[in-house]
Amino acid sequence: MVAHAPGRAASRLVSTPGPSSKPDHQPTRRHLLCTALGVSAFHRLYAQTAPEPGLDRLLSLFDYESEAQKRVSPGAWARISGGAADELTLRWNHEAYEKIRLKPRALVDVSKLDTRVTLFGQEMPYPILLAPTGGQKFVHPEGELAAVRGAAAAKATYVISSSASMKVEDIARAATGPVWFQLYVQRDRGFTRELVQKAEEAGCRALCVTVDSPIFGARNTEDRGKGNLPARELPNLKGADYLDPTLTWKDIDWLRGFATRPVLLKGILNPDDAAIAVKAGVAGIIVSNHGARNLDTVPATIDALPGVVEKVAGAMPVLVDGGIRRGTDVLKAFALGATAVQIGRPYLWGLGVAGATGVERVVAILRREFELAMMLAGRPTLKSIDRKVIW
Ligand code: FNR
Repeated sequence: MVAHAPGRAASRLVSTPGPSSKPDHQPTRRHLLCTALGVSAFHRLYAQTAPEPGLDRLLSLFDYESEAQKRVSPGAWARISGGAADELTLRWNHEAYEKIRLKPRALVDVSKLDTRVTLFGQEMPYPILLAPTGGQKFVHPEGELAAVRGAAAAKATYVISSSASMKVEDIARAATGPVWFQLYVQRDRGFTRELVQKAEEAGCRALCVTVDSPIFGARNTEDRGKGNLPARELPNLKGADYLDPTLTWKDIDWLRGFATRPVLLKGILNPDDAAIAVKAGVAGIIVSNHGARNLDTVPATIDALPGVVEKVAGAMPVLVDGGIRRGTDVLKAFALGATAVQIGRPYLWGLGVAGATGVERVVAILRREFELAMMLAGRPTLKSIDRKVIW
């Protein structure tokens, strides 16, 4: 099951190809070369199965979703589209945005927009980041290297996952734009410390420690597709069983004791945990339910956000991810107190469709939609987006 049924997403696709589009199944030179070299079987197993489509006809993130489903392998699709158990939270994550109605103001001068945000001294031209997602070589042969190139081209910050299919230092060194690092604290704390140091030395500007995963959820969709995928490459982690269920607040203190970059907690939903995070002195919070891949039936992140924001009371930035698919969703997240947002699956769809270019396009579409939403709602700056923009 996916967040949006393919038929629904496909209906949003403009069916007439633009002038630059190639017919979908006309082989490209790269495809012919791959076939001649006998690597098409590799591609079928791993990632792209067909030549790139004319990107000009992919106008929304949902267009990329339906195109990606055709292009990545069935196993990879199950992995990136699935959630936990009955996938109720997966559905709610976006549905909750759909239920929020906007209340625009008329006759506001919106000729000049300001979407800049500064996080931990880093100025970003707009407040959308790429959330950490592991195993990107399943989605595209160039994996994380293509994704980080696409992010840089879009001028967005890319968060490197601990479970990336390439080494954090190789991704960070190849990056031409800003990168952060997501940490799974390993049972071997010495190993974890070295991993953090490698990430910092390679230029990661912030550390997002994932706190919602003492164990992974019942990922039925992903598990059903697993047989079709090669073994996972996890060059940053100690073994495939890499989560530590003993992790507690004292380990956050331990991490903050040696980390030289701001430490954010990724995966806070409960306002009571947000209150402890404030006392613990962490640099920021990411309200996240792990893309609905862990505990099914927790609320949509946009529904959890206001409670966390209230407890934090401005003490630190609060980011949110999960289900953000439209510029209006970004506007709603700001209205409910977010300082910035992250997207996960949408950029994987871009990666699966067209590598770095696809990632860049997906992020650019969301950025543009956010600007349109700000203008049409009469909110020309991030500061001017408050609760009053919600009906
Ligand atoms: C993730 N996510 C994730 N989170 C994390 O902290 N470390 C990780 O390695 C991963 N890996 C991962 C893989 C895949 C395939 C997905 C879809 C997600 C969760 C991710 O960072 C983010 O919280 C969600 O993806 C946000 O929701 P959307 O935008 O995908 O709806």
